[in-house]
Amino acid sequence: MKKKTIIDILKVIEDLSHIKDIDSLLESVLYEARKITNADAGSIFLKSENHLTFEYVQNDTLYGTEENSNDYLYSKRKIFIDNKSIAGYVTQTKKPLVINNVYKIDKKSPYSFNKSFDAKSSYHTGSMLTVPLITSREKVIGVIQIINAKNYRGKIISFTKDDEFLVSLFAAQAAVAVEKALMTREIILRMIKIAELRDPLETGVHVNRVGAISVEIYKKWAVKEGIPKKEITRNKDILRIAAMLHDVGKVAISDVILKKKGKLNEMEFEMMKFHTVHGARLFKDSNSEWDDMAVDITLNHHEKWDGTGYPGNIKNIYNDNLKIMPGKKGTEIPLFARIVALADVYDALMSSRLYKRSWPEDRVLKLIEKESGKHFDPNLVEVFFDIQKIITSIREKYN
Ligand code: C2E
Ligand code: SIN
Ligand code: SIN
Ligand code: FE
Ligand code: FE
Repeated sequence: MKKKTIIDILKVIEDLSHIKDIDSLLESVLYEARKITNADAGSIFLKSENHLTFEYVQNDTLYGTEENSNDYLYSKRKIFIDNKSIAGYVTQTKKPLVINNVYKIDKKSPYSFNKSFDAKSSYHTGSMLTVPLITSREKVIGVIQIINAKNYRGKIISFTKDDEFLVSLFAAQAAVAVEKALMTREIILRMIKIAELRDPLETGVHVNRVGAISVEIYKKWAVKEGIPKKEITRNKDILRIAAMLHDVGKVAISDVILKKKGKLNEMEFEMMKFHTVHGARLFKDSNSEWDDMAVDITLNHHEKWDGTGYPGNIKNIYNDNLKIMPGKKGTEIPLFARIVALADVYDALMSSRLYKRSWPEDRVLKLIEKESGKHFDPNLVEVFFDIQKIITSIREKYN
Protein backbone atom coordinates (compact mmCIF):
# COMPACT_ATOMS: atom_id res chain seq x y z
CA MET A 1 0.00 0.00 0.00
CA LYS A 2 2.63 2.51 1.07
CA LYS A 3 5.05 1.43 -1.67
CA LYS A 4 2.42 1.91 -4.34
CA THR A 5 1.75 5.39 -3.04
CA ILE A 6 5.39 6.40 -3.40
CA ILE A 7 5.56 5.05 -6.94
CA ASP A 8 2.37 6.92 -7.77
CA ILE A 9 3.92 10.07 -6.41
CA LEU A 10 7.07 9.59 -8.48
CA LYS A 11 4.92 9.24 -11.60
CA VAL A 12 3.04 12.42 -10.78
CA ILE A 13 6.32 14.26 -10.22
CA GLU A 14 7.54 13.11 -13.63
CA ASP A 15 4.35 14.50 -15.23
CA LEU A 16 4.62 17.78 -13.36
CA SER A 17 8.17 18.35 -14.54
CA HIS A 18 6.85 18.78 -18.09
CA ILE A 19 4.40 21.56 -17.26
CA LYS A 20 5.78 24.89 -18.45
CA ASP A 21 3.13 27.34 -17.39
CA ILE A 22 3.27 28.39 -13.74
CA ASP A 23 -0.52 28.63 -13.31
CA SER A 24 -1.20 25.19 -14.73
CA LEU A 25 1.60 23.83 -12.61
CA LEU A 26 0.41 25.31 -9.31
CA GLU A 27 -3.11 24.10 -9.97
CA SER A 28 -1.80 20.57 -10.58
CA VAL A 29 0.57 20.61 -7.60
CA LEU A 30 -2.28 21.53 -5.27
CA TYR A 31 -4.59 18.94 -6.81
CA GLU A 32 -2.02 16.16 -6.54
CA ALA A 33 -1.06 17.08 -2.96
CA ARG A 34 -4.72 16.79 -2.03
CA LYS A 35 -5.03 13.46 -3.80
CA ILE A 36 -2.12 11.98 -1.84
CA THR A 37 -4.02 12.54 1.39
CA ASN A 38 -7.60 12.48 0.09
CA ALA A 39 -8.06 16.06 1.32
CA ASP A 40 -11.34 17.85 0.63
CA ALA A 41 -9.83 21.29 0.08
CA GLY A 42 -6.65 23.31 -0.06
CA SER A 43 -4.82 26.44 -1.15
CA ILE A 44 -1.48 27.10 -2.75
CA PHE A 45 0.44 30.32 -2.14
CA LEU A 46 3.43 31.93 -3.78
CA LYS A 47 5.81 34.10 -1.80
CA SER A 48 6.55 37.61 -3.00
CA GLU A 49 8.71 39.91 -0.87
CA ASN A 50 6.79 39.98 2.41
CA HIS A 51 3.47 38.53 1.27
CA LEU A 52 1.97 35.23 0.37
CA THR A 53 -0.53 35.44 -2.49
CA PHE A 54 -3.33 32.91 -2.85
CA GLU A 55 -2.77 31.41 -6.29
CA TYR A 56 -5.36 28.65 -6.23
CA VAL A 57 -8.10 27.58 -3.89
CA GLN A 58 -9.71 24.18 -4.42
CA ASN A 59 -12.63 22.87 -2.44
CA ASP A 60 -14.57 19.77 -3.50
CA THR A 61 -17.45 20.50 -1.15
CA LEU A 62 -17.89 24.12 -2.25
CA TYR A 63 -16.87 24.05 -5.91
CA GLY A 64 -17.16 20.42 -7.02
CA THR A 65 -14.54 17.78 -7.68
CA GLU A 66 -13.45 18.78 -11.18
CA GLU A 67 -9.82 19.86 -11.22
CA ASN A 68 -10.79 22.86 -13.32
CA SER A 69 -13.90 24.03 -11.63
CA ASN A 70 -13.49 27.00 -9.39
CA ASP A 71 -14.17 30.69 -9.69
CA TYR A 72 -11.74 31.61 -6.93
CA LEU A 73 -8.90 30.80 -9.25
CA TYR A 74 -8.37 34.43 -10.12
CA SER A 75 -8.73 35.90 -6.66
CA LYS A 76 -5.73 37.95 -5.62
CA ARG A 77 -5.97 37.74 -1.84
CA LYS A 78 -2.73 38.27 0.01
CA ILE A 79 -1.53 37.54 3.52
CA PHE A 80 1.34 39.31 5.20
CA ILE A 81 4.14 36.97 6.24
CA ASP A 82 4.47 36.86 10.00
CA ASN A 83 4.00 34.06 12.51
CA LYS A 84 0.36 34.99 13.20
CA SER A 85 -1.11 33.14 10.23
CA ILE A 86 -0.54 29.44 9.74
CA ALA A 87 0.86 29.80 6.24
CA GLY A 88 3.09 32.69 7.39
CA TYR A 89 4.37 30.67 10.33
CA VAL A 90 5.28 27.74 8.04
CA THR A 91 7.04 30.14 5.64
CA GLN A 92 9.17 31.43 8.49
CA THR A 93 9.94 28.11 10.18
CA LYS A 94 10.37 26.25 6.84
CA LYS A 95 8.84 23.18 8.51
CA PRO A 96 5.61 21.31 7.78
CA LEU A 97 2.83 21.76 10.32
CA VAL A 98 0.01 19.36 11.13
CA ILE A 99 -3.07 20.69 12.94
CA ASN A 100 -5.80 18.26 13.96
CA ASN A 101 -8.46 20.87 14.58
CA VAL A 102 -7.96 24.49 13.60
CA TYR A 103 -10.63 25.60 16.08
CA LYS A 104 -8.69 24.08 18.96
CA ILE A 105 -5.23 25.52 18.38
CA ASP A 106 -3.32 25.95 21.64
CA LYS A 107 -3.73 29.56 22.85
CA LYS A 108 0.05 29.67 23.42
CA SER A 109 0.79 29.09 19.70
CA PRO A 110 1.99 32.21 17.89
CA TYR A 111 -0.33 31.46 14.98
CA SER A 112 -4.09 31.20 14.88
CA PHE A 113 -6.66 30.17 12.30
CA ASN A 114 -8.27 32.88 10.23
CA LYS A 115 -11.98 32.11 10.56
CA SER A 116 -13.14 34.61 7.94
CA PHE A 117 -13.07 32.14 5.03
CA ASP A 118 -15.22 29.62 6.87
CA ALA A 119 -17.54 32.40 7.99
CA LYS A 120 -17.99 33.74 4.46
CA SER A 121 -18.45 30.38 2.76
CA SER A 122 -20.14 28.42 5.56
CA TYR A 123 -17.47 25.78 5.11
CA HIS A 124 -16.09 23.98 8.13
CA THR A 125 -12.30 23.65 8.26
CA GLY A 126 -11.17 20.87 10.58
CA SER A 127 -7.75 19.29 10.02
CA MET A 128 -4.95 21.03 8.16
CA LEU A 129 -1.53 20.16 6.78
CA THR A 130 0.68 23.06 5.72
CA VAL A 131 3.95 22.42 3.88
CA PRO A 132 6.53 24.89 2.56
CA LEU A 133 7.80 24.76 -1.03
CA ILE A 134 11.55 25.01 -0.54
CA THR A 135 14.12 25.19 -3.33
CA SER A 136 17.49 23.45 -3.31
CA ARG A 137 18.99 26.72 -2.09
CA GLU A 138 16.78 26.64 1.00
CA LYS A 139 14.58 29.46 -0.24
CA VAL A 140 10.86 29.27 0.48
CA ILE A 141 8.98 30.08 -2.75
CA GLY A 142 5.51 29.11 -1.64
CA VAL A 143 3.25 27.08 0.63
CA ILE A 144 0.80 24.24 0.09
CA GLN A 145 -2.02 24.10 2.59
CA ILE A 146 -4.41 21.16 2.49
CA ILE A 147 -7.55 20.91 4.51
CA ASN A 148 -9.88 18.22 5.83
CA ALA A 149 -8.36 14.81 5.16
CA LYS A 150 -11.14 12.28 4.55
CA ASN A 151 -11.32 8.58 5.25
CA TYR A 152 -12.77 6.14 2.71
CA ARG A 153 -16.31 6.92 3.93
CA GLY A 154 -15.78 10.65 3.44
CA LYS A 155 -15.55 11.42 7.14
CA ILE A 156 -13.13 14.20 8.09
CA ILE A 157 -10.06 12.87 9.90
CA SER A 158 -6.65 14.13 11.02
CA PHE A 159 -3.56 14.14 8.80
CA THR A 160 -1.08 11.44 9.82
CA LYS A 161 2.72 11.37 10.12
CA ASP A 162 2.74 9.40 6.86
CA ASP A 163 0.70 12.12 5.13
CA GLU A 164 3.15 14.71 6.39
CA PHE A 165 6.10 12.67 5.11
CA LEU A 166 4.60 11.97 1.67
CA VAL A 167 3.38 15.49 1.04
CA SER A 168 6.75 16.90 2.13
CA LEU A 169 8.54 14.54 -0.24
CA PHE A 170 6.18 15.60 -3.00
CA ALA A 171 6.57 19.30 -2.15
CA ALA A 172 10.37 19.13 -2.35
CA GLN A 173 10.15 17.85 -5.94
CA ALA A 174 7.28 20.17 -6.84
CA ALA A 175 9.38 23.13 -5.71
CA VAL A 176 11.98 22.34 -8.38
CA ALA A 177 9.32 22.36 -11.09
CA VAL A 178 7.74 25.55 -9.70
CA GLU A 179 11.07 27.36 -9.67
CA LYS A 180 11.67 26.37 -13.30
CA ALA A 181 8.20 27.48 -14.38
CA LEU A 182 8.63 30.80 -12.57
CA MET A 183 11.79 31.34 -14.62
CA THR A 184 10.00 30.53 -17.88
CA ARG A 185 7.26 32.99 -16.94
CA GLU A 186 9.91 35.60 -16.17
CA ILE A 187 11.49 35.21 -19.62
CA ILE A 188 8.13 35.39 -21.40
CA LEU A 189 7.20 38.49 -19.44
CA ARG A 190 10.48 40.08 -20.50
CA MET A 191 9.68 39.39 -24.15
CA ILE A 192 6.32 41.01 -23.57
CA LYS A 193 7.97 43.97 -21.80
CA ILE A 194 10.07 44.59 -24.89
CA ALA A 195 6.92 44.69 -27.00
CA GLU A 196 5.36 46.94 -24.36
CA LEU A 197 8.22 49.45 -24.57
CA ARG A 198 7.18 49.92 -28.17
CA ASP A 199 3.44 49.81 -27.64
CA PRO A 200 2.77 51.24 -24.18
CA LEU A 201 -0.95 50.55 -24.11
CA GLU A 202 -0.62 46.90 -25.08
CA THR A 203 0.31 46.25 -21.48
CA GLY A 204 1.18 43.27 -19.35
CA VAL A 205 -2.31 43.20 -17.87
CA HIS A 206 -3.94 43.03 -21.33
CA VAL A 207 -1.65 40.18 -22.23
CA ASN A 208 -2.34 38.36 -18.96
CA ARG A 209 -6.07 38.74 -19.48
CA VAL A 210 -5.96 37.47 -23.05
CA GLY A 211 -3.96 34.46 -21.81
CA ALA A 212 -6.33 33.70 -18.95
CA ILE A 213 -9.54 34.26 -20.94
CA SER A 214 -8.27 32.07 -23.79
CA VAL A 215 -7.55 29.24 -21.35
CA GLU A 216 -11.03 29.46 -19.82
CA ILE A 217 -12.73 29.46 -23.23
CA TYR A 218 -10.68 26.44 -24.25
CA LYS A 219 -11.38 24.53 -21.03
CA LYS A 220 -15.11 25.03 -21.29
CA TRP A 221 -15.12 24.15 -25.00
CA ALA A 222 -12.93 21.07 -24.50
CA VAL A 223 -15.02 19.65 -21.67
CA LYS A 224 -18.14 20.09 -23.83
CA GLU A 225 -16.43 18.27 -26.70
CA GLY A 226 -15.33 15.42 -24.43
CA ILE A 227 -11.62 16.00 -24.98
CA PRO A 228 -9.60 13.74 -22.61
CA LYS A 229 -8.56 15.45 -19.39
CA LYS A 230 -4.84 14.89 -19.95
CA GLU A 231 -5.01 16.59 -23.32
CA ILE A 232 -6.92 19.53 -21.85
CA THR A 233 -4.31 19.96 -19.14
CA ARG A 234 -1.44 19.84 -21.64
CA ASN A 235 -3.08 22.24 -24.08
CA LYS A 236 -4.11 24.82 -21.54
CA ASP A 237 -0.56 24.83 -20.25
CA ILE A 238 0.92 25.87 -23.58
CA LEU A 239 -2.10 27.95 -24.64
CA ARG A 240 -1.73 30.53 -21.88
CA ILE A 241 1.85 31.33 -22.79
CA ALA A 242 1.27 31.26 -26.55
CA ALA A 243 -1.83 33.46 -26.20
CA MET A 244 0.08 35.98 -24.12
CA LEU A 245 2.49 36.37 -27.02
CA HIS A 246 -0.16 36.90 -29.72
CA ASP A 247 0.96 40.45 -30.51
CA VAL A 248 4.76 40.27 -30.00
CA GLY A 249 5.09 40.82 -33.76
CA LYS A 250 4.12 44.45 -33.12
CA VAL A 251 7.78 45.08 -32.16
CA ALA A 252 8.50 45.10 -35.91
CA ILE A 253 5.93 47.81 -36.68
CA SER A 254 7.12 51.41 -36.96
CA ASP A 255 6.37 53.85 -34.14
CA VAL A 256 4.56 56.20 -36.50
CA ILE A 257 1.91 53.53 -36.97
CA LEU A 258 2.00 51.82 -33.62
CA LYS A 259 1.73 55.02 -31.59
CA LYS A 260 -0.62 56.91 -33.86
CA LYS A 261 -3.26 58.67 -31.74
CA GLY A 262 -5.93 58.61 -34.41
CA LYS A 263 -7.36 56.13 -36.85
CA LEU A 264 -4.94 54.38 -39.20
CA ASN A 265 -5.26 55.14 -42.90
CA GLU A 266 -5.53 52.29 -45.34
CA MET A 267 -1.82 52.00 -46.07
CA GLU A 268 -0.89 52.16 -42.40
CA PHE A 269 -3.39 49.44 -41.58
CA GLU A 270 -1.93 47.29 -44.39
CA MET A 271 1.48 47.62 -42.70
CA MET A 272 -0.02 46.84 -39.33
CA LYS A 273 -1.43 43.57 -40.65
CA PHE A 274 2.10 42.19 -40.92
CA HIS A 275 2.47 42.08 -37.12
CA THR A 276 0.91 38.63 -37.47
CA VAL A 277 3.64 37.39 -39.80
CA HIS A 278 6.45 39.04 -37.82
CA GLY A 279 5.21 37.30 -34.70
CA ALA A 280 5.08 33.91 -36.40
CA ARG A 281 8.65 34.30 -37.65
CA LEU A 282 9.86 34.37 -34.04
CA PHE A 283 8.68 30.81 -33.41
CA LYS A 284 8.60 29.14 -36.79
CA ASP A 285 12.00 27.44 -37.09
CA SER A 286 11.78 25.70 -33.75
CA ASN A 287 9.57 22.65 -33.54
CA SER A 288 8.39 22.06 -30.01
CA GLU A 289 4.68 21.67 -29.50
CA TRP A 290 4.81 25.00 -27.77
CA ASP A 291 6.32 26.85 -30.75
CA ASP A 292 3.77 25.28 -33.10
CA MET A 293 0.96 26.74 -31.07
CA ALA A 294 2.69 30.13 -30.86
CA VAL A 295 2.98 30.17 -34.68
CA ASP A 296 -0.70 29.23 -35.08
CA ILE A 297 -1.76 32.03 -32.77
CA THR A 298 0.53 34.88 -33.81
CA LEU A 299 -0.13 34.22 -37.49
CA ASN A 300 -3.87 33.61 -37.38
CA HIS A 301 -5.37 35.62 -34.51
CA HIS A 302 -6.83 38.20 -36.94
CA GLU A 303 -8.43 35.70 -39.28
CA LYS A 304 -12.22 35.77 -39.21
CA TRP A 305 -14.65 32.84 -39.29
CA ASP A 306 -16.35 34.17 -42.46
CA GLY A 307 -13.06 34.51 -44.34
CA THR A 308 -12.72 38.31 -44.20
CA GLY A 309 -9.71 38.43 -41.86
CA TYR A 310 -5.95 38.55 -42.48
CA PRO A 311 -3.18 37.64 -43.35
CA GLY A 312 -4.62 34.60 -45.20
CA ASN A 313 -2.69 31.71 -46.70
CA ILE A 314 0.83 33.00 -47.08
CA LYS A 315 3.02 30.33 -48.66
CA ASN A 316 6.33 31.42 -47.22
CA ILE A 317 6.29 33.74 -44.24
CA TYR A 318 10.02 34.46 -44.73
CA ASN A 319 9.50 35.90 -48.19
CA ASP A 320 10.64 39.53 -48.34
CA ASN A 321 7.82 40.54 -50.66
CA LEU A 322 5.03 39.60 -48.34
CA LYS A 323 1.51 39.96 -49.61
CA ILE A 324 -1.68 39.71 -47.66
CA MET A 325 -3.84 36.91 -49.13
CA PRO A 326 -7.57 36.13 -49.05
CA GLY A 327 -8.48 35.21 -45.46
CA LYS A 328 -8.72 31.70 -44.10
CA LYS A 329 -12.21 30.51 -43.33
CA GLY A 330 -13.98 28.52 -40.59
CA THR A 331 -12.08 25.53 -39.24
CA GLU A 332 -9.27 26.24 -41.68
CA ILE A 333 -8.25 28.71 -38.97
CA PRO A 334 -6.50 26.81 -36.15
CA LEU A 335 -8.71 26.38 -33.07
CA PHE A 336 -6.32 28.15 -30.72
CA ALA A 337 -6.18 31.18 -33.03
CA ARG A 338 -10.00 31.29 -33.15
CA ILE A 339 -10.01 31.29 -29.36
CA VAL A 340 -7.44 34.07 -29.06
CA ALA A 341 -9.27 36.14 -31.69
CA LEU A 342 -12.30 36.23 -29.42
CA ALA A 343 -10.37 36.87 -26.20
CA ASP A 344 -8.28 39.60 -27.87
CA VAL A 345 -11.16 41.58 -29.36
CA TYR A 346 -13.16 41.29 -26.15
CA ASP A 347 -10.28 42.67 -24.13
CA ALA A 348 -9.27 45.31 -26.72
CA LEU A 349 -12.80 46.71 -26.70
CA MET A 350 -13.04 46.67 -22.90
CA SER A 351 -9.76 48.62 -22.67
CA SER A 352 -8.74 52.08 -23.81
CA ARG A 353 -6.08 52.40 -26.49
CA LEU A 354 -4.14 55.39 -27.81
CA TYR A 355 -6.64 55.47 -30.62
CA LYS A 356 -9.88 54.71 -28.79
CA ARG A 357 -11.75 54.77 -25.48
CA SER A 358 -12.92 51.64 -23.69
CA TRP A 359 -16.44 50.50 -24.46
CA PRO A 360 -19.11 49.76 -21.84
CA GLU A 361 -19.48 46.04 -21.26
CA ASP A 362 -22.99 45.67 -22.68
CA ARG A 363 -21.88 47.24 -25.96
CA VAL A 364 -18.92 44.85 -26.16
CA LEU A 365 -21.09 41.81 -25.49
CA LYS A 366 -23.61 42.97 -28.09
CA LEU A 367 -20.87 43.24 -30.70
CA ILE A 368 -19.57 39.76 -29.90
CA GLU A 369 -23.06 38.33 -30.20
CA LYS A 370 -23.55 40.13 -33.52
CA GLU A 371 -20.20 38.90 -34.84
CA SER A 372 -20.93 35.25 -33.96
CA GLY A 373 -20.59 33.33 -37.22
CA LYS A 374 -19.02 36.38 -38.89
CA HIS A 375 -15.84 37.38 -37.08
CA PHE A 376 -16.00 34.59 -34.50
CA ASP A 377 -16.55 30.85 -34.37
CA PRO A 378 -20.19 30.56 -33.14
CA ASN A 379 -19.38 27.54 -30.94
CA LEU A 380 -16.77 29.56 -29.11
CA VAL A 381 -19.08 32.54 -28.71
CA GLU A 382 -21.58 30.26 -27.01
CA VAL A 383 -18.93 29.00 -24.61
CA PHE A 384 -17.76 32.57 -24.02
CA PHE A 385 -21.22 33.56 -22.79
CA ASP A 386 -21.31 30.52 -20.51
CA ILE A 387 -18.25 31.70 -18.57
CA GLN A 388 -19.04 35.38 -17.98
CA LYS A 389 -18.60 35.03 -14.21
CA ILE A 390 -15.07 33.68 -14.61
CA ILE A 391 -14.21 36.38 -17.14
CA THR A 392 -15.33 39.04 -14.68
CA SER A 393 -13.04 37.60 -12.01
CA ILE A 394 -10.16 37.56 -14.50
CA ARG A 395 -10.70 41.27 -15.16
CA GLU A 396 -10.72 41.89 -11.42
CA LYS A 397 -7.47 40.04 -10.94
CA TYR A 398 -5.62 41.77 -13.79
CA ASN A 399 -6.86 45.35 -13.79
P1 C2E B 1 -5.62 45.93 -30.74
O1 C2E B 1 -5.80 47.35 -30.30
O2 C2E B 1 -5.08 44.95 -29.73
O3 C2E B 1 -7.01 45.41 -31.27
C1 C2E B 1 -7.25 44.06 -31.50
C2 C2E B 1 -8.51 43.86 -32.30
O4 C2E B 1 -9.64 44.28 -31.52
C3 C2E B 1 -8.61 44.69 -33.58
O5 C2E B 1 -7.93 44.05 -34.66
C4 C2E B 1 -10.12 44.72 -33.81
O6 C2E B 1 -10.56 43.50 -34.36
C5 C2E B 1 -10.64 44.84 -32.41
N1 C2E B 1 -10.86 46.25 -32.09
C6 C2E B 1 -10.08 47.07 -31.37
N2 C2E B 1 -10.61 48.29 -31.29
C7 C2E B 1 -11.79 48.26 -31.98
C8 C2E B 1 -12.83 49.23 -32.25
O7 C2E B 1 -12.76 50.40 -31.82
N3 C2E B 1 -13.88 48.80 -32.99
C9 C2E B 1 -13.97 47.53 -33.46
N4 C2E B 1 -15.05 47.18 -34.20
N5 C2E B 1 -13.00 46.60 -33.24
C10 C2E B 1 -11.96 46.97 -32.49
P2 C2E B 1 -7.48 44.92 -35.90
O8 C2E B 1 -8.54 45.88 -36.31
O9 C2E B 1 -7.00 43.96 -36.94
O10 C2E B 1 -6.26 45.77 -35.39
C11 C2E B 1 -5.01 45.19 -35.06
C12 C2E B 1 -4.16 46.15 -34.33
O11 C2E B 1 -3.91 47.28 -35.19
C13 C2E B 1 -4.81 46.75 -33.08
O12 C2E B 1 -4.62 45.89 -32.00
C14 C2E B 1 -4.04 48.07 -32.97
O13 C2E B 1 -2.75 47.87 -32.41
C15 C2E B 1 -3.84 48.47 -34.42
N6 C2E B 1 -4.93 49.37 -34.85
C16 C2E B 1 -6.09 49.05 -35.47
N7 C2E B 1 -6.80 50.15 -35.77
C17 C2E B 1 -6.08 51.21 -35.34
C18 C2E B 1 -6.27 52.64 -35.35
O14 C2E B 1 -7.26 53.17 -35.84
N8 C2E B 1 -5.29 53.41 -34.79
C19 C2E B 1 -4.16 52.89 -34.25
N9 C2E B 1 -3.25 53.71 -33.74
N10 C2E B 1 -3.94 51.54 -34.21
C20 C2E B 1 -4.88 50.72 -34.75
C1 SIN C 1 -6.46 32.15 5.36
O1 SIN C 1 -7.26 31.24 5.08
O2 SIN C 1 -6.77 33.36 5.30
C2 SIN C 1 -5.03 31.83 5.73
C3 SIN C 1 -4.93 30.53 6.39
C4 SIN C 1 -3.72 30.54 7.28
O3 SIN C 1 -3.81 31.07 8.38
O4 SIN C 1 -2.67 30.03 6.86
C1 SIN D 1 -10.41 49.82 -36.35
O1 SIN D 1 -9.73 50.11 -37.35
O2 SIN D 1 -10.73 50.68 -35.51
C2 SIN D 1 -10.85 48.40 -36.16
C3 SIN D 1 -11.72 47.99 -37.31
C4 SIN D 1 -12.22 46.57 -37.18
O3 SIN D 1 -11.48 45.61 -37.45
O4 SIN D 1 -13.40 46.37 -36.81
FE1 FE E 1 -2.95 41.42 -33.12
FE1 FE F 1 -4.03 42.28 -28.55
